[in-house]
Amino acid sequence: MSKAPFGRRLLRVTGMDELGAYRVLRVADPDGPEPEPGQFAMLTTAERWGAGENERPYLARAFSFARWRDGQAHYLLEDVGPGTKRLCELSAGEEVWTLGPLGQGFTAPGRVGPHPRRAILVGGGVGIAPLAILQDALECEVTVLLGFRDGARAVGAALLDGAQVATDDGSAGYHGLVTDLLAAELQRDPAAVVYSCGPAGMLEGVRAMCAQSGTPAQLALEAGMACGFGACFGCVVPRHGGGYLRVCVDGPVIDAAELDVVEEHNGAPA
Ligand SMILES: Cc1cc2nc3c(=O)[nH]c(=O)nc-3n(C[C@H](O)[C@H](O)[C@H](O)COP(=O)(O)OP(=O)(O)OC[C@H]3O[C@@H](n4cnc5c(N)ncnc54)[C@H](O)[C@@H]3O)c2cc1C
Ligand code: FES
Repeated sequence: MSKAPFGRRLLRVTGMDELGAYRVLRVADPDGPEPEPGQFAMLTTAERWGAGENERPYLARAFSFARWRDGQAHYLLEDVGPGTKRLCELSAGEEVWTLGPLGQGFTAPGRVGPHPRRAILVGGGVGIAPLAILQDALECEVTVLLGFRDGARAVGAALLDGAQVATDDGSAGYHGLVTDLLAAELQRDPAAVVYSCGPAGMLEGVRAMCAQSGTPAQLALEAGMACGFGACFGCVVPRHGGGYLRVCVDGPVIDAAELDVVEEHNGAPA
C-alpha cells in the first residue's frame, strides 16, 4: 500500500478539463508517492473553501485517484454540492491541499490454474474514476462495463478504453442498467474477477449477482468521511459476521464477501 506522507501537502493545479457532465482536475505532485488503484485523497482548495460571510470552513472531501501520469494526479469530479462546486472552479496555477494516498486499493486478479483471471470492471457515474487507474495497471484480459444516468455523463466513459456503456435514459449505449450487462458477462465467465465502484444500489446489485455466481468481487465503497484516516468512525459500515469496517482505512476497496449488503451511506461531512 502506498502510504501518505505525514500531514497534508499544498500542491499546484496544472489543469482542469471538461468531460461531458464531469471535470478532470490535474494536480502536480512530483515528490508524492504513486497511488495504488482504488486509493483516494482528501482535498481542500487553498482559497475560498467555505468560511465566507455566515459560513464555516468545509471539511476536506474524498476523491479517488482516477489516473497518475508524469507526476500528476488526475481526479474526476462531479459538482454535487459546495465542496465539489469549488473544486470544479479551480484553474491552472491555483493550489490544493492534499492528504493522501489513503486507504486500501484493489488487489491483483490472481489465476485460475495457470491462466490469469479475466477482470470485469463495473462502474457507475463518477465511480468510474478508480477503474480508470486500475485499467492502466492491469495486465490481464479486461472487460469494461459502465453505467450512467444520461448521455452527458456517458461522455465520461472516454476515461477508460473499450467500454460498453449503459444509460438509464437510453441516450447512449444500452438502454438499462449496467448490471444487465454484467449478468451476461458472468454467465459467459463466472471465473472472472469483478472490480466495481459506483452508487450503493449498483454496488449491491453487483455484490448479490457475484455472490450467486460464486464470482470474487472487490467493491470500492463511498461513505461520508470526516477525517479520512481512521480517527472519527464516521465512515463505518457493518461487516459480515459482526463488527464494523472503517471505509477509509479498511477500504475503500472491500472484498464483497466481507459485506452482507451495500447500503446508502448518509454520514456525509459538513
Ligand atoms: C473514497 C471516496 C472516493 C470518492 N471519489 C470521488 C470521485 O472520484 N469523484 C467525485 O466527484 N466524488 C467522489 N467521492 C464523493 C465526494 O467525496 C462527495 O461527492 C463530496 O464529498 C461532496 O461534497 P460537496 O461539498 O460537494 O457536497 P455535499 O453537500 O457535502 O454532498 C452532496 C450530496 O452528496 C452526499 N454525499 C456527500 N459525500 C458523500 C459520500 N462520501 N458518500 C455518499 N454520499 C455523499 C450528501 O449526503 C449530499 O446528498 C468520493 C467519496 C469517497 C468516500
Ligand atoms: S473518515 Fe474518519 S474514521 Fe473513516
